[in-house]
This record gives sequence, structure tokens and C-alpha cells, in this order.
Amino acid sequence: MKIRLVFAILIAAVTLLTVKLITAESEKTMNEQTMKNLSTAMHGEAFAYAKYSLFAEHARQNGNTKLADLFESTAKTERFEHFSEEEKLAGLVGTDSDNLKDAIMGESYETETMYREFAQQAKQAGDLEVAKRFEEIRLEEAKHRDAFNAALSDLKK
Ligand SMILES: [Fe+2]
Ligand SMILES: [Fe+2]
Repeated sequence: MKIRLVFAILIAAVTLLTVKLITAESEKTMNEQTMKNLSTAMHGEAFAYAKYSLFAEHARQNGNTKLADLFESTAKTERFEHFSEEEKLAGLVGTDSDNLKDAIMGESYETETMYREFAQQAKQAGDLEVAKRFEEIRLEEAKHRDAFNAALSDLKK
């Protein structure tokens, strides 16, 4: 009986220690440069996915089926393996509320800063078609921001 009790206590202690170690590991803040590199890598993987998907579409239209398949399968690896693994490490996805706040920040930056400056710079450089499209996209980003803001308000109700 006594041995059983000691054994039970021992198991409980080991379990507690394991939980504590796992918690400590997951709460450990990541090195700033590592986090930056994860973000850069994810942007690259997402862009490669979009680009290779377009390349695949183009090759398929030209009848180069084998090349289209190669671009398509590589695109899938970039998105569903490399990007997916990196986003988990980076903790990209949070609660719905966190995700909305993140999205609002991004769309606000695009609306108020990025596309505004890009449109101005393109206009000054004489790239009028690009300037016009940047400005149109900027207004669409503002709509995205507003829709996300409304969704966040609904979530709080
Ligand atoms: Fe990759
Ligand atoms: Fe957007």
C-alpha cells in the first residue's frame, strides 16, 4: 500500500514537472531576429505560392502539362508545408478578435501609408497607370479595414 502511494506521488510529480517544462518552453519569447526571419520567410513562401500558381496556369494554357504540374506541386509545398510550418512557429493565428485586430492594422497601414505613398511616388515618376491602380486598391483596402472593424464590433457585442 505504502509503495503504491509513493509510486503515485512520484508519477504526479513527474507529470507536474513535465507540464511545467512544456509551459515554460511555449512561453519562452522568441529571439527578435528569428521572428523577423520567420516573417520574411513567410512572405517569400506566400509570394512563391502565388507566383508558381500563375506560372502553372500559364504553362497549362500553353499545353505544357508536365511543367504546369511541376509548378503546381511546388506551389503547394511552399504554401501547405513551408508556410504552414513557419506560421505555426511564428504563432500567426490567434483568437478571432486577435486576428481581426491584426488584419485591421495591416489594412490601415496599406490605406493610410503604403498605398498612399506608392500612388504619390508612381505619379511623380510618371507611372500614371500604376499610380491610378494603387489609388483604386488603396480605397478597396479602406473597405477591408472598415469591414474588419465592423466585424470586431459585432464580436464584442
Ligand atoms: Fe519554400
Ligand atoms: Fe486588403
